Amino acid sequence: MTASPLSLPRLREEAAGCRACHLWKNATQTVFGEGPAHAQVMLVGEQPGDKEDLAGKPFVGPAGQMLDRALKEAGIDRGKVYVTNAVKHFKFVPRGKIRLHQKPNTPEIRACRQWYERELATVRPTLVVAMGATAAQSVFGRITPINKNRGRLIETNDGHKALVTVHPSYLLRLPEADARAREYERFVDDLKIAATQLTHDKAA
Ligand code: URA
Repeated sequence: MTASPLSLPRLREEAAGCRACHLWKNATQTVFGEGPAHAQVMLVGEQPGDKEDLAGKPFVGPAGQMLDRALKEAGIDRGKVYVTNAVKHFKFVPRGKIRLHQKPNTPEIRACRQWYERELATVRPTLVVAMGATAAQSVFGRITPINKNRGRLIETNDGHKALVTVHPSYLLRLPEADARAREYERFVDDLKIAATQLTHDKAA
């Protein structure tokens, strides 16, 4: 790992000027992670969406509301976990007044991984939860299929555990109410595994 642990405010400041890939050009700002400096659990999403890009905070839009609901149901206080994204600039194409989300590609994920590594080295969580394919690719450093790996604690070479699950936006996109309810319950079940890693003995 190339990371040198800096405080989160210093890292955030450095990341604000990141030009490691081209995504900064059209985005409003870098959306860095947020949460307690030594959270036991780190949640990793894909990239900021439209609302996050404007607010400068991760998971504050519709996917964030879905995440908040599921965290609550799993017994996790969002204020106790560190929430970040694999890619820290919003990637989109303009369509009239709308900015349409675009999935980040491998070079973009790789270019941004330094920030995830540095967040990891600073926060040193016990568990990292990768939500969706982009997060899993960043967390494991390679393409990692969600369904084959989800729902169980995986030991990593970096000295922490990892848990793979779906991205909350996936739940928002499911057209069928039954499938949506079923998949939501599975997502909550995965987060309940994360909840087992939250103990009361590590100061945030
Ligand atoms: N989707 C993400 O992956 N991250 C966010 O912050 C918002 C939506």
